[in-house]
Amino acid sequence: MARHLITSALPYINGIKHLGNMVGSMLPADVYSRYLRQRGHDVLYICATDEHGTPAELAAKEQGLAVAEFCAQAHDAQKAVYDGFALAFDYFGRSSSAENRDITQHFARKLNENGFIEERAIRQVYSPTDGRFLPDRYVEGTCPHCGYDKARGDQCENCTRVLDPTDLINPRSAISGSTDLEVRETKHLFLLQSKLQHEVEQWVARHEDDWPQLASSIARKWLNEGLHDRAITRDLDWGVPVPADTWPELAAEGKVFYVWFDAPIEYIGATKEWADQDPENRDWKSWWYDVDTEVRYTEFMAKDNVPFHTVMFPATELGVREPWKKVDYVKAFNWLTYYGGKFSTSQKRGVFTDQALDILPADYWRYFLIANAPESDDSSFTWEHFTATVNKDLADTLGNFVNRVLSFSRKRFGDDVPTGGEPGEAEAKLGEEIARLLAEYEVQMEALQFRKAAAALRALWSAGNSYLEEKAPWLEIKTDKDGAALTLRTAMNLIHLYAVVSEPFIPATAKTMREAFSLKDDTAAWVTAAEAKSLSAVPVGTPFTVPPVLFAKLTDEDLENYKERFGGEAG
Ligand code: 2FM
Ligand code: ZN
Repeated sequence: MARHLITSALPYINGIKHLGNMVGSMLPADVYSRYLRQRGHDVLYICATDEHGTPAELAAKEQGLAVAEFCAQAHDAQKAVYDGFALAFDYFGRSSSAENRDITQHFARKLNENGFIEERAIRQVYSPTDGRFLPDRYVEGTCPHCGYDKARGDQCENCTRVLDPTDLINPRSAISGSTDLEVRETKHLFLLQSKLQHEVEQWVARHEDDWPQLASSIARKWLNEGLHDRAITRDLDWGVPVPADTWPELAAEGKVFYVWFDAPIEYIGATKEWADQDPENRDWKSWWYDVDTEVRYTEFMAKDNVPFHTVMFPATELGVREPWKKVDYVKAFNWLTYYGGKFSTSQKRGVFTDQALDILPADYWRYFLIANAPESDDSSFTWEHFTATVNKDLADTLGNFVNRVLSFSRKRFGDDVPTGGEPGEAEAKLGEEIARLLAEYEVQMEALQFRKAAAALRALWSAGNSYLEEKAPWLEIKTDKDGAALTLRTAMNLIHLYAVVSEPFIPATAKTMREAFSLKDDTAAWVTAAEAKSLSAVPVGTPFTVPPVLFAKLTDEDLENYKERFGGEAG
């Protein structure tokens, strides 16, 4: 038994996420966590909403809510969707928590003591009308490159050029619209990442061989470009305040830390939130502090997050000069596209996680998304592919098998697993095949190769179908009743095995399959190779029920409806 710490990139608080966000972080982390728990490991799966920064302030403003109020509501809304997807977090926290504030401030003090933080004066846009400095996104104006008149101070949405607020023509405040703006000097804290370059390089060199290529190549690219010192404070009302004991002047000016400084620290913060709910029995430091190889830490994220997790957060952790746990394995994903185009939260293109659950239960999405995860390359979501996969793999290969076997057995042999003859050559061959595929599934899961794991799972389901076709109990019964009973009993054992091993992918369906059998003591967390070979975990005489159809077949009409509602091609 090992101890596994697992985190998925923290979703921004503003807005419900789309399927692309889901498949690139939280869902695979959940599948992996569930698998490891079933294998008997001690797992802690932590996530949280990423609540600070200008997007949160602006979204709150748009809805006419105080930021704290907006975030509380938006957190609950996201949590409800994740519950709907059956994401079994050990804790889903909030980066605006007191725990994260304390740990973030502690990190900043330590970095400062160790000479990695410096106060520097910079020139920034100030709005006398609003009585405040305006961070990038709070300044709007005309793009100097393309003339677009609603360009934001950080980037022009029209031509995608990166901007500085002082580049904008006719700049105005996004808060009040005031054009009475001036450039004033103000002080900010800078993290001296350049001083940590060498150490980070050495740390990456020790780990990158274990990481997937996507993660190590991005880390290398950033290191080769050189780590730059960067401002880690902002002039915002909402965020972790700069601690007054260390920087009284900046604290008095109301400076807060930049969202990307406190967000990764919230992995630790959320673990403390978890422990604070039951302090007698939970020890957050035992997961994070001075644990070295005792805990294996795996992070899940989309590729745009990789630089922060492989270079910048490790730089912070190294600079603190305390033994905080650093990541062991970075599982990074490419993009899921919508008909080859971008899923876009701001342009509302693609399928959002709440809409997905309105249409079909979570297991349909969980299976499809993981089986097509953008692991080695981008992958494209299309309704055609989705409906075809659901129909073939879930409805036909798995669902139909389960229903056919159980209903036929009930019809011919009653409500208990039938006795029948002794296993023969076909059963031995099947057992070998199942054991082989199970081993393949385990290897791929342990290697975090989710598409390959899904393929092995699918092959396990198919093996049952082949066996059933070969034995054809509906014909067999006419000449050899005992033989037919043996076939059905063996197939029922396969159903139970499917219940156990499919759980990481389709937990609700797995539960239904398991509960079809009234086993006195059904605690089997996993299937051993011997059990896979003998296919006899469900004994003769076990009462069973026939569950309702596990997966509905999607019709051409369903397909047309989905395409009409969501747009069937890239915009
Ligand atoms: O890109 C994002 O969605 C960020 N909110 C991820 C943060 S991950 C972690 F560092 F907090
Ligand atoms: Zn432009």
